[in-house]
Amino acid sequence: MATTPDLVQLLAMLLTLANAKKTIEIGVFTVYSLLLTALSIPDDGKVGRITAIDIDQHTHEMGLPVIEKAGVEHKINFIESKALPVLDKLLEDPENEGCFDFAYVNSKNYHERLMKLVKIDGVVVYDNVLRRGFVAMPEELVSGEEWKQERQWVIELTSSSNRPQIL
Ligand SMILES: C[S@@+](CC[C@H](N)C(=O)[O-])C[C@H]1O[C@@H](n2cnc3c(N)ncnc32)[C@H](O)[C@@H]1O
Repeated sequence: MATTPDLVQLLAMLLTLANAKKTIEIGVFTVYSLLLTALSIPDDGKVGRITAIDIDQHTHEMGLPVIEKAGVEHKINFIESKALPVLDKLLEDPENEGCFDFAYVNSKNYHERLMKLVKIDGVVVYDNVLRRGFVAMPEELVSGEEWKQERQWVIELTSSSNRPQIL
């Protein structure tokens, strides 16, 4: 259930292409992707440039020694919470609209809010891990109506001309 090594390479490339300085990540777990993000964004001297949210503090604690060893802990603002209330809180301040360059998340439930929080030429990456890779599967191999609907949602979203760029 961690981000895969090949996806991490893709994320590194996208973070660089997006020139990402301020990012948001929902679902920290092993901190694999969080560490990658912290290593990829420039150190501009500001603290907490990465907003990292997870309902489980222990996952963050487990990975913290690795983050500290890499010397990037100051870049991370970890928030232990369900994601939606945090996104709503951020949106209470109009200054936060379009404030993120990059978002890495694993549920379409955050989509509406992220469209307001990520800047117009930013990048939003949806992790496919929890969906067992169904987006890339032929439709007949995807079992269950819910998965089929989500697959269709992703296909329509990524083929539309919406901005920020959805990957
Ligand atoms: C697939 S894992 C994330 C993998 C991570 N990106 C990595 O590279 O290891 C999903 C994470 O989402 C968290 N999570 C689940 N529901 C959540 C919610 N409503 N709000 C915030 N985090 C949530 C879980 O605790 C879990 O750590």
